[in-house]
Amino acid sequence: MTNFNASFLSDARSLFLGEQEENMAAYLYSTPDPNIENDPANGEVCYMELISQNLGYYLYKEEIQLINNVAEKIAAYVPEEANIIEFGPGTNIAFQNKTLPFLKAVEKFKSYIPVDVCETYLHQTQKILGRELPEIPVQIMQDDFIKNVELVQKFAKPVVFFKGSTITNLSISNCLKFFGRISQALKPDGILIVGVDANQNQSSLRKAYNDGKMAKLTLSILYFINRDLPVDGFEPTAFNYEFNWVAETHCVEHNVRATEEQNFVLDGIPINIKKGTKFHLLSSYKYPVDYFQNQAIKGGLKPIDCFIDENKRMVIHVLGVS
Ligand SMILES: C[S@@+](CC[C@H](N)C(=O)[O-])C[C@H]1O[C@@H](n2cnc3c(N)ncnc32)[C@H](O)[C@@H]1O
Repeated sequence: MTNFNASFLSDARSLFLGEQEENMAAYLYSTPDPNIENDPANGEVCYMELISQNLGYYLYKEEIQLINNVAEKIAAYVPEEANIIEFGPGTNIAFQNKTLPFLKAVEKFKSYIPVDVCETYLHQTQKILGRELPEIPVQIMQDDFIKNVELVQKFAKPVVFFKGSTITNLSISNCLKFFGRISQALKPDGILIVGVDANQNQSSLRKAYNDGKMAKLTLSILYFINRDLPVDGFEPTAFNYEFNWVAETHCVEHNVRATEEQNFVLDGIPINIKKGTKFHLLSSYKYPVDYFQNQAIKGGLKPIDCFIDENKRMVIHVLGVS
């Protein structure tokens, strides 16, 4: 079993046994199996549909706008000879529209290291960069950048570029732990450039997430479990998606609720799910600027600058090590 599948299994097991929740974000981007017709475990495709077909999904468009507007200002914080490590470069259009404008604005850097659990995205990224900036060496890393954040230490003058609001999929406590570990890994002179959605408006959050495309993307995780993990008798069709906004914790919860009782065996463990049971698969936290900066400070980071989109939702934070 690959490291990825071992983590996937352990996270799925603890989710269904009620030991953990909001731990499924890293498994949202499953690659469809070409041998399965219309494979429903297809997070990659569902994410593309969400960003291209849900007109209310502002995150993607507004972050593109913001990065393109401030690319030179962000790039000014990148020291010469930096190794730029990107956490989760994502789809080829995300890479072309967000990463490339930033990389092109940086005057001089040593290498580019994309890190993603999704292999397809890494190869696409490598191909595009080879064409657009052929002088820059690229070292792809298929790894979990949350579990293995210390990989940053392998590189001198690390600048971690972490856009897409992916950090906000971490629970508040895991985000704090992540800050603590990355602040150590970035020492003495590394930088973290991170994109966050700060929107607190329930109505626009509903438009962005409470729709069929987000439902399909979230539910694709259950099909992914069924396809790739040692499970017998699991019925991924017997769940509905539920959006929930918890203003007090700035959290959009992505839940699934069982529409019927089911019994299945996961890696030899019998599991019973009652009709109506809710599983909180993952979250999208919406951190106001001050809140995010305070959390970063608690984790040993130092806010250096931040750039806010004109709609006052998408933010790019530049953080150093305190
Ligand atoms: C929301 S997408 C963001 C994509 C892109 N950065 C953008 O701006 O649209 C998250 C990306 O991070 C990757 N990813 C999420 N969690 C990860 C983890 N823990 N380790 C490695 N890759 C991860 C996903 O495969 C995906 O490519």
